[in-house]
Amino acid sequence: MKKIKVALLGAGTVGSQVARILLEDAVSLGQRIGADIELIGIAVRDVTSSRDWNAPASLYTTDAESLIDAADVVIELTGGIEPARTRILRALNAGKSVVSGNKALLAQHGAELQAAAKASGAQLSYEAAVAGAIPILRPLRDSLAGDQIQRVLGIMNGTTNYILDQMDTTGAQFSDALAQAQELGYAEADPTADVEGLDAAAKAAIVASLAFHSEFTLADVHCEGISAITAEDVQAAALDGYVIKLLAICERQGEGINIRVSPTLVPREHPLASVHDAYNAVFVQARDAGELMFYGPGAGGAPTASAVLGDFVSLARRMVLGGSGVPESTYAGLCAVGMDEVVTRFAIGLRVEDKLGVLANVSRIFAEHGVSLQAVRQVKDRSGDSAVIRLVTHRASDISVRRTMAVVDSLESVREIISVVAVEGE
Ligand code: HSE
Repeated sequence: MKKIKVALLGAGTVGSQVARILLEDAVSLGQRIGADIELIGIAVRDVTSSRDWNAPASLYTTDAESLIDAADVVIELTGGIEPARTRILRALNAGKSVVSGNKALLAQHGAELQAAAKASGAQLSYEAAVAGAIPILRPLRDSLAGDQIQRVLGIMNGTTNYILDQMDTTGAQFSDALAQAQELGYAEADPTADVEGLDAAAKAAIVASLAFHSEFTLADVHCEGISAITAEDVQAAALDGYVIKLLAICERQGEGINIRVSPTLVPREHPLASVHDAYNAVFVQARDAGELMFYGPGAGGAPTASAVLGDFVSLARRMVLGGSGVPESTYAGLCAVGMDEVVTRFAIGLRVEDKLGVLANVSRIFAEHGVSLQAVRQVKDRSGDSAVIRLVTHRASDISVRRTMAVVDSLESVREIISVVAVEGE
């Protein structure tokens, strides 16, 4: 039988699990592939570091380049841009297929890596880069390749879903829910990439590229995080029958594609509203298939290793059969479009002086900008002489709502714009 030599770069939470499965299941994986497989080494920064799971010590090395050169397939699970980019290019340029879980790299340099793979006929697979164990990239690229995707909505970050779910179910403030997420090991010591939406934005760029047969990068994604969401926003949403989720939305907008990550009010009856804890889910609206939802663990060592191994088995099978990589289809060449023309509903919270005429003044400004109001609720502010007004608009363009809010903000009777959050649905 043919032998496939595998180099693993990285032995963190996911890398350790990939090493374990490659060693423990070598025989059955080989049978599925039709070749013997051998993990020939694991490149790490420090061979003495403690790990979640320990492979035989002889497998660890700091010489990633020699390991890549000796391998047939490279599995990259180090994260970050460099040296991961240079190492993956080294492998692809030499015709070696690569599995990567590196969302930041793929969202910024995906086109360069794809071009290198195409030039040498190598394969590049990265299911683990988006939503952990959930098979979403392969369904978009293969299963739905004959359909037309209209819209993708995803909860693609488990940390923020855990935080928002805690705020919704226990009434916790953001900072307390974040502390819990850190205690449970979901959130990093520096949680910026998760809570400010950057992690989800990288995943959204990758998903949009596949869904719309075009090339998008992180820079094409409008990104807002959840750090400004308060317990009061969550409670107000609940009163109106919504739950706040950090949604990544990729959708057709005129001649292009709008890709955005932002806190969004989701109706309780929407399938994404029932995604709790740190789970991820991706909701796909396709012309012919209709509505599909992909749900599961979006992070974690073994779940993400499952996605990595799936890619590995698939590309190794193709190697055994003598096939080269199938480049991503980018025939549509669509451009990313900004937020101005995005049309959605908005939920707006204002803290105002509690006096005659304030509400009339505010609603007049909305009318003057052509933004129609669907619901208005006023509650007494606990802090004394203020009132809190909660408004929900009908569908309106982002730019018209931004212009409205600039004028509302200039009113003397408006003390604070508490929040402006998109609302999913008609
Ligand atoms: N930090 C990510 C999350 C997992 O919280 O979902 C890795 O992408």
